[in-house]
Amino acid sequence: MNTIHRRHFIAAGSLTALAGITGSAAATTYRKGPGDDHRGPVCVASGNGVRAVAKAWDLMHEGRDTAEAVVAGVRIVEEDPNDMSVGFGGLPNERGVVQLDASVMHGPTHKAGAVACLENIKTPASVALEVLRRTDHVMLVGLGAKEFAIALGFPEENLLTEQARQAWLRWKASHGPDDDWLNPEQMDWQFDDQGHGTHTALSMADKDPIPFTTGTIHCSALNAKGEISACTTTSGLSYKIPGRVGDSPIIGAGMYVDNAIGSAGATGRGESVIQSCGSFLAVQYMDQGMTPNEACRAVLKRIADRTKQKRLLNAKGEPNFQVTMYAMRKDGAYGSATMRPGGTFAVCDDEGPRQLPSEPLFD
Ligand code: GLY
Repeated sequence: MNTIHRRHFIAAGSLTALAGITGSAAATTYRKGPGDDHRGPVCVASGNGVRAVAKAWDLMHEGRDTAEAVVAGVRIVEEDPNDMSVGFGGLPNERGVVQLDASVMHGPTHKAGAVACLENIKTPASVALEVLRRTDHVMLVGLGAKEFAIALGFPEENLLTEQARQAWLRWKASHGPDDDWLNPEQMDWQFDDQGHGTHTALSMADKDPIPFTTGTIHCSALNAKGEISACTTTSGLSYKIPGRVGDSPIIGAGMYVDNAIGSAGATGRGESVIQSCGSFLAVQYMDQGMTPNEACRAVLKRIADRTKQKRLLNAKGEPNFQVTMYAMRKDGAYGSATMRPGGTFAVCDDEGPRQLPSEPLFD
């Protein structure tokens, strides 16, 4: 362990003790969790990644590289039309176009690959892995990323499912009375699922809520040789401004690996994660001596402390948005924490794949 870092950590621990006396929220930062005592090979993912960790675990045990294992794991969710936060079936941008972001990092070589604003290719993490493998670059975006994928034989497909298109149309209709898209209350002609029209105007309350997401899938894997890789992939913020890039493809924000320390990943409000370099910070905190659970909580605390805009705070002055952090240390300890209640994460080790609760920073 780096001695300068160690000193900082001890200083932070003293501050924590002091904060306990003064009742500061900093006292909640340093807290161990159940996965902190785990040792040996493990795969860790966001809560939507139970199938991903199971697949990554199996591939790792067949001798496949950890980067291939995590990418193959998240691919199951990228190809699933029912997960509206990732890949095929993801919610589109404000123009109704699905734009995907992904990144991969390979610990043994310390190489990274990423794509952003990728259109018409279902599996952006696989394209990011090819950027890592085949190029001297780290990130390709937009048309360049798509042309790269097509050159490698990735099929060009329409990614907007009927379910996601209907959600987008309802989002457009919900904007307000002053634009040219009529609200359901303003329409005097409604169509049911079979296309049959009626003259009964609907209220928004009669419809299912419009789905919104900053959802994403992250997956990290550690094999018996101590090799670590990680990957994060997403369709990003629903109904985003075209060209918006979230944290998922940003190395150090959406995920980060240092094979000598561990890995981390993030899901949730990408802008907040980028502004605190969330995944890099979690890995640095582990280098300073924090456990994975402590590191995740400390990152969330840092994000909360740096959130200054009133529209992002609730009445108690806490962030009103969700971010969930995941971390894994090189010895197999793992953890996760979430800004607001409700976050989960997935783990696979000798006991098999399972979903666990992520401990919230705020109740
Ligand atoms: N975390 C996903 C995004 O903000 O795009």
